[in-house]
Amino acid sequence: MLFKKSIPQLLAEANESGEGTLKRSLTSFNLVALGVGAIIGAGLFSLTGIAAADNAGPAVILSFIIAAVGCGFAGLCYAEFASMIPVAGSAYTYSYATMGEFMAWIIGWDLVLEYALSAATVASSWSQYFSQFLLEFGIHFPQRLLHGPFEGGIVNIPAIVIVCLLSLLLMKGTKDSSAVNNVLVIVKVAVVLIFIVLGWSFINPANHHPFIPVNGGEEAVKAGTRGFFEFFSSDDFGHFGISGVLRGAGVVFFAFIGFDAVSTAAQEAKNPQKGMPIGIIGSLIVCTLLYVLFSYVMTGLENYTKFAGDAKPVATAFAQTGYTFLNRFLMIAILAGYTSVILVMLLGQSRVFYSMSKDGLLPKIFSDLHPKNQTPWKTNLVFMIFVSIFTGFVPVSDLGHMVSIGTLFAFSLVCIGVLILRKTNPELERPFRTPWVPLIPILGVVVCVLMMASLPIVSWERLAIWMALGVIIYYAYSKKHSKIRNEYNNSLSK
Ligand code: ALA
Repeated sequence: MLFKKSIPQLLAEANESGEGTLKRSLTSFNLVALGVGAIIGAGLFSLTGIAAADNAGPAVILSFIIAAVGCGFAGLCYAEFASMIPVAGSAYTYSYATMGEFMAWIIGWDLVLEYALSAATVASSWSQYFSQFLLEFGIHFPQRLLHGPFEGGIVNIPAIVIVCLLSLLLMKGTKDSSAVNNVLVIVKVAVVLIFIVLGWSFINPANHHPFIPVNGGEEAVKAGTRGFFEFFSSDDFGHFGISGVLRGAGVVFFAFIGFDAVSTAAQEAKNPQKGMPIGIIGSLIVCTLLYVLFSYVMTGLENYTKFAGDAKPVATAFAQTGYTFLNRFLMIAILAGYTSVILVMLLGQSRVFYSMSKDGLLPKIFSDLHPKNQTPWKTNLVFMIFVSIFTGFVPVSDLGHMVSIGTLFAFSLVCIGVLILRKTNPELERPFRTPWVPLIPILGVVVCVLMMASLPIVSWERLAIWMALGVIIYYAYSKKHSKIRNEYNNSLSK
């Protein structure tokens, strides 16, 4: 039998208030800021240069547009669910209502890869920028304390420190965290705008030519001197040309991860029916516009070939403007940007486990709220330790791929969920409706699966291992403790 949560039951939970529930303190503006807070980070400031140099050239702008369209499909599906079922668990809860308990567990478990591991990934990059920042003042942070043992160091100390500080802030309260986040978001959006505005007049049009650098393999396929499959499996694939633009989209996809984190705060939104779609779609639109302009200016300031192997591509591009006195501000703002991503991801993670624990699928400590602050502080504490271990010891590139594959998997399931719920419960009130169903959800799944396919096979293996662990825990613990299942069994025995 498929154990599902009924929508009325979910709505009743969403409307619970008082002790032991999350506070409704976030406005639509806070929600867009939360989304932007989770979105703009390492993806924009680090990966734009990498994708331009290795994959797409100046056409990284197109890569951003393609990734944005893919995320847009998933975002529209998220918005329908989040406005309809505004509870804290996001994709986990939507799956519980549509695809049953087992799938819900799978997705909740999978979201750890997205939220917790992206916090770990961005914290790792944060620490590299932090050490560069210290260098500006002549302080050399020991290299061995900036990298884990797989990268020739001992442990990444600054990354662990930032994760711990932000976890403590989250334990203190969502309102405080949101206030800090608003400031961080303003700083990072300001730097993106300053970069665009100041950089614009220094764009050298020659740097945008050729817009899509030639891919020798693609030319050979066109001329009929090389077979498509031979090209597909060769190193030429994804290195400039159309294939490079597509691979670039897979790379910069990381830059969009986080818009769905808005939906994890649904239970803390003042007016979730309206606020959720505005928060999700709004933050996606704001970021897409900024990304396209930013990448246009960045590839216009400096030739894309100069970004190869460059740890600070934004600074390299900005150096062309001559406003070098702004370099320190640029670094502070980038650090602020990374900080807000870590904060929102940690917030999202704790809310997913909070929901899973409320449903009995995880032990009760994950939904215990602090008596005064009303935050799930024990979950914050557990993830503070978990994320610290990953960020302190695991290489950043390994983490990044895990994040992407886990996120794409979650996005696909949310798109499928919209299709299912439109069939099973067409009568439900949907404050926001995904347009052109079934086309948009189907396109969402197709784009996500294609992007997953572009990731290295080792990420698939790790995803499989993580999921296998999840299945074991489900059968060993969650199934036995599931509230819905137990209520059903009790009703039978009466
Ligand atoms: N989108 C987030 C970033 O780029 C994860 O840092």
